[in-house]
Amino acid sequence: MPQGKRVVLASRPVGEPKPSDFRIEEYTPPTPGNGEVLLRTIWLSLDPYMRGRMSDAPSYSAPVPIGGVMEGGAVSEVIASNDPNFAIGDIVQIRSGWQTHAIADGKKLTKVDPKLAPISTAVGVLGMPGMTAYTGLLDIGKPQPGETVVVAAASGAVGSAVGQIARIKGARAVGIAGGKDKCDYVKNELGFDDCLDHRDPELAAKLKQACPKGIDVYFENVGGAVFEAVFPLFNPFARIPVCGLIAHYNDTEAAAPKWAGSLMRAVLTKRLTIRGFIVSDFAARHADFLRDMSAWVREGKVKYKEFVTDGLENAPEAFMGLLKGANFGKQLVRVGPDQA
Ligand SMILES: NC(=O)c1ccc[n+]([C@@H]2O[C@H](COP(=O)([O-])OP(=O)(O)OC[C@H]3O[C@@H](n4cnc5c(N)ncnc54)[C@H](OP(=O)(O)O)[C@@H]3O)[C@@H](O)[C@H]2O)c1
Repeated sequence: MPQGKRVVLASRPVGEPKPSDFRIEEYTPPTPGNGEVLLRTIWLSLDPYMRGRMSDAPSYSAPVPIGGVMEGGAVSEVIASNDPNFAIGDIVQIRSGWQTHAIADGKKLTKVDPKLAPISTAVGVLGMPGMTAYTGLLDIGKPQPGETVVVAAASGAVGSAVGQIARIKGARAVGIAGGKDKCDYVKNELGFDDCLDHRDPELAAKLKQACPKGIDVYFENVGGAVFEAVFPLFNPFARIPVCGLIAHYNDTEAAAPKWAGSLMRAVLTKRLTIRGFIVSDFAARHADFLRDMSAWVREGKVKYKEFVTDGLENAPEAFMGLLKGANFGKQLVRVGPDQA
């Protein structure tokens, strides 16, 4: 039986998470029972929502308990099987958390076909972040040809797909990202029409220039100063899928709604649609997503970038970096080799 390593939540962060909020433990993975398989993690996905799971504030999902394994999606290899549907060497996608090995019920596993695309994409462009971009943009944002779509965190897992799908649908895509390198990538590699740096003190004025016909769809990933720059530019009947608010995930108290009145006035007078969503709300769209997104990736219409950190023990640092923009592309942790 292999020895395992896992990252547990040692304490609930106040503000930004710090190294002492995590603890690395060794453990002996259990033996799989009837219908179960033993898995070896290859790729661990790190995602901003994990900050929410570290907090016990009321949310749409239960928090990780203190001492519990940090939650997360993974791509893993079957290394022992008591389920006739799974053979040793099969690759699967599972929410097994920040650990090197896990036992899983075969019925809860999704097989990944390594011939379709690199297996890491099962937690990236062909997985949860890609599906978030697809459903939030198409089902709530509903971009029309010639309209302007704005998205921040534009070089990241979700934002990069949002802008590229907007372009496929004939809309103009304007990204917002942290720094010149990310903005150059978003424009030159991903083909967005423009991209602006959210740390530029002139952001609001430059955004106005980049969106001369106003904004029809704002895919909200960050909140904060970016939302304040975007807000005056909404066109009548603009749609705002609220996907994430990463600028606020480390807030220690609810921000005073100092301009809630102006916001609600705009919602009324401009007939805005603002709708929050969690990707699981659109589970019924999974087959459509996989069909369209895998075709777009195959045809080179949707490109993706991965940002790989080696070693499970480095996951806490990588996660803390993700919340501050240290990642450039989908943040992954390589927990073990592709081939054992
Ligand atoms: N609703 C759902 O079901 C769902 C599912 C998946 C993801 N999400 C949300 O989607 C958003 C993007 O997630 P992702 O996985 O694609 O992450 P990501 O974009 O790959 O990484 C997070 C990025 O956020 C940006 N950021 C951090 N603080 C910021 C700030 N104060 N202002 C502007 N940008 C900031 C950083 O990029 P820069 O360097 O460009 O600033 C950082 O790289 C997150 O809010 C996440 O919670 C929601």
